[in-house]
Formats: sequence, structure tokens, C-alpha cells
Amino acid sequence: MPSPTRKPIQVTVTGPTGTVGYAALFRIAAGDLFGPDQPVVLRLWEIEAAMKALDGVVMELDDCAFPLLADVVTTSDLATGFDGANWAILIGSMPRKAGMERGDLLQANGGIFRPQGQAIAAHAASDVRVLVVGNPCNTNCLIARANAPEVPAERWFAMTRLDHNRAVAQLARRASVPVSEVTNLAIWGNHSATQFPDFTHARISGRPADEVLDRHWLEGDFITTVQKRGAAIIEARGASSAASAANALIDSVASVEQETASDDWVSLGVVSQGQYGVPEGLVFSYPVRSDGKGSWSVVEGLELDDFARQRVQVTAQELVDERSEVADLLG
Ligand code: NAI
Repeated sequence: MPSPTRKPIQVTVTGPTGTVGYAALFRIAAGDLFGPDQPVVLRLWEIEAAMKALDGVVMELDDCAFPLLADVVTTSDLATGFDGANWAILIGSMPRKAGMERGDLLQANGGIFRPQGQAIAAHAASDVRVLVVGNPCNTNCLIARANAPEVPAERWFAMTRLDHNRAVAQLARRASVPVSEVTNLAIWGNHSATQFPDFTHARISGRPADEVLDRHWLEGDFITTVQKRGAAIIEARGASSAASAANALIDSVASVEQETASDDWVSLGVVSQGQYGVPEGLVFSYPVRSDGKGSWSVVEGLELDDFARQRVQVTAQELVDERSEVADLLG
């Protein structure tokens, strides 16, 4: 039973009627984010056009009678949506339409994430943490953060955990071992086709992945399978990843909140402090470890071989280019 003395955690979710948001809400309300004793309040922010659909989602939440769900607030007003938020999970974003260039998409989403950043700064709780899921998530996170300079850099995250989980699953399958045998995998860089799923430090049953599996496969099909997995799911399912994205969202928040296993790390897009030569201020996915007490750090001191170094440079450059395309939105 939830503890009646615990103050509920306020979780703002944008895009709650979208497929990812819809899948995530029920897991958050069930206690998957903060555990079985911690009540939550869901603050669901949607665009006006989706408010009716949101009413239906709330009816379904009611019908689950979740003991941990202390309240649900629905709104299309940003001040109300982010009021007192301890966690803000930003999923809602503008889908890419036919004929839209990447630059147009960046600008269109900047129009969403700039005011959301401002609203977070003005209305969220002083301990707010922000996870950006809506794509392009690294640069959307950069834009939101630039518009909320009062919120410390270590509170901002972009989601690369779905790529991480996909990569772990591919390695496990290839090596015919359970996923729990794969550790030290990391996604470096952008949540895009330039991301680097780093097998060079990954371990399978404690052994370096490139001793267990063929390096040619790792450098080739492994990387492209992970990079193109989203497209493969759309092709097969006729719809984009939803439950697996919601699951990665839960994993992402848990990996910040909970202590990382001593012999492992996770992937999170975080604000670069210049580690591994990545320009400072970019939202870049790194191997990250958390102490479970609210503090996390990028794993430092890993040796990058020529292959890995080149991959990291390519994905960092893409993020530099994205940053210059949205320069007008950065504050
Ligand atoms: P969807 O199309 O089902 O839902 C989109 C949501 O955004 C809806 O709630 C919609 O009302 C809202 N929305 C539409 N226009 C908006 C606007 N102008 N301002 C604010 N919100 C608006 O999309 P889905 O599948 O739920 O995906 C949501 C986002 O998450 C997409 O950007 C998608 O690319 C991204 N995503 C990211 C992943 C990652 O690994 N980082 C994985 C999967 C999805």
C-alpha cells in the first residue's frame, strides 16, 4: 500500500495522448517510476486539439483505480502544466511531415520547447528534472535548457535509452545469452542515425564483446541495425515504437533515481562539460553512472580507439550543426 505520509511526486507529461505518452502514463501511475510506496500526481499537458482525447485517457486512468495515483491534472496551459513539477517528461512534439527538411523540423520543435523551457524555469519545483523524449530530443533538450538557465545543467536529460536497450538486445541475441549478460554498452551522441552504439567497451558474460563476437559484424550490421531499428519497426508494425519507447522512458528516469550497478553504466543524453572532446553545452549521450542519491556523472577515462573516436566526432559534429540551426532559439 502507498504510504499516506509520503508527499506525491509531481510528474508533468507532455504529449500524453500520443502513442508513447499513452503507453507511459499507465506505467507511471502503476508505480514503475518511483516504486510501490511513492504516490504520484500526473500533470498532463496537451495541445488544445487533443484535449478531448485526453479526457478519454483520464477516464481510462480512473478505471485502473491505481492506488498510487493521487491526482491527475489536465491542461493546455503551460503554467498549470509545469506547476510544482519534480519531473517533467517532454514527449509531445511536432511530427516530421512530407517535404519537411530537418532544419524545418528543428525550428518547428524549437517553437514548442522554448516556451516549455521558460515555463519550467518559472513554475516547476526547485528540484525539477527534465527528460526530453520528443524528437529531435537532444536539440529539443538544448533549446528548453537554454530557455531555463536557472535550472542547473545536471537536471537535463535526452532519451537515448531506447537505442541502448536495442543494442543490448542485439548483442545478447547474437551471442545467444540472456540480456542480463550484456554490460557496459553505451550510446554516444545524438539520438539519430549518427549515434554510436559503442561495442568497444561492452562486455558479454564479463568478456569484451569484440572477443565474443566478430568485429566485422559489430562495426557493420550491429551498428546499422540499432541505428535503423525505429524504421524497421515502422515497416513491420505500420506504426512507430511506442511501448518500447515508454519502457525506455521508465528506464531513463529509474537510472537517474537509482544507483547504477557497480560494474555497469547506462546511456543518457546529458549536457556536455567537454568530456571526450565533445563541445561544451551540447546535449550528448554518454555512458553515465548514478549514485542513487540524486547525483550522477559521465564515466570518464575510457580509451576510445580510432574507430570509436571517429564515430564520436561525427555525431558530435551533427549536434554542433543542429545547434547552429536553432541559434535564434537559444535564449
Ligand atoms: P504521436 O504522433 O503519437 O504523438 C505526438 C504527441 O505530440 C501528441 O500527444 C500530440 O498531441 C503532441 N503534439 C502534436 N503537435 C504538438 C505541438 N505543436 N506542441 C506540443 N505537442 C504536440 O507521437 P509518439 O509516437 O507518441 O512520439 C512522440 C515523440 O517522441 C516524437 O517526437 C517521437 O519522434 C519521439 N520518440 C522519441 C524516442 C526516443 O528514443 N528519444 C522514441 C520514440 C519516440
